Amino acid sequence: MTSDCGFSIADCGLKDKTNEPESEICSLDLEQKKANDVVFSDDQGFTALQKGIFRETGLDLSQYREKCLKRRIDVRLKATGAQTYLEYTTVLKKDPAEYARLLDALTINVSNFFRNKSTYRVIENTIIPELVSLKKKQGKKIIRIWSAGCASGEEPYSIGILFNEILGKHITDFLISIYGTDIDANILNKAKAAEYENNSVSEVEENILRRYFRYDGKYRLKDEITQMVKFKHHNLISDKPLTHMDVILCRNALIYFTRDLQQKLFETFYEGLNKKGYLILGKTESLTGEPARMLQLVNAKERIYQKG
Ligand SMILES: C[S@@+](CC[C@H](N)C(=O)[O-])C[C@H]1O[C@@H](n2cnc3c(N)ncnc32)[C@H](O)[C@@H]1O
Repeated sequence: MTSDCGFSIADCGLKDKTNEPESEICSLDLEQKKANDVVFSDDQGFTALQKGIFRETGLDLSQYREKCLKRRIDVRLKATGAQTYLEYTTVLKKDPAEYARLLDALTINVSNFFRNKSTYRVIENTIIPELVSLKKKQGKKIIRIWSAGCASGEEPYSIGILFNEILGKHITDFLISIYGTDIDANILNKAKAAEYENNSVSEVEENILRRYFRYDGKYRLKDEITQMVKFKHHNLISDKPLTHMDVILCRNALIYFTRDLQQKLFETFYEGLNKKGYLILGKTESLTGEPARMLQLVNAKERIYQKG
């Protein structure tokens, strides 16, 4: 199922947000498509709404793909009974708490442990072992990883688990810092709490579940992993990038952004990587422009690149 922004509904996260089966999402989409054509088509109102959101929340939506954006905003128009974008700006003025609900609808936080298992297999069998052997050769102990757009933390924690699995007791030979960043402060609080429902851990193998989680109705990640990850509020569009990274993962977050912005982000990721560092994108994302020439493609299927 592909949405009009060119990515699957699941990638755009609508399925998770609405908790509805995909077939219902399709009809919701169709309804909204009709709604877009007939009702929510006031372009001036849309521009005014974007400006208002930027003024009040600092979120610059001009860099986001318009069709994806409109579909999500339309959910809030429907929920509040607004007939046009202009009317919705009035709703926001009257009820500023609506901004929080709107941001929640815009930032789609779907994630789970070891999402796209085949990518993690390459990270486990190739990326981490090569990184560790390079560090040993260089006589360096520091390893830095950045999970950009980390949502509720499953991605950076999955990386922490893999380092533990691979290094075992030798993990103390290294100083491993994993940074998880996201624009959504609420989801970062969930990430810090490190408590997960069944669906978040459905891809986790039984022995890993037993070793790194405690279960008491929820799956709680043990301290040996949580202490490896630092979470930080960070806006990919406007904040300074993190630097001196050995691996940057930016998966399933770029789908929100225009090609131009993606291109800029690739350049900043390139700058943020150490020599021989890896960039890992989502399965539907790929490198374009100058960085595509500067970074070497390591694994096309898993969207893994390396700085020379
Ligand atoms: C679908 S989740 C991806 C989570 C994880 N990387 C994965 O692949 O499982 C996308 C995340 O990108 C975040 N995001 C969207 N726009 C952002 C921005 N401008 N800066 C930082 N994070 C952003 C969202 O809040 C959301 O948590």
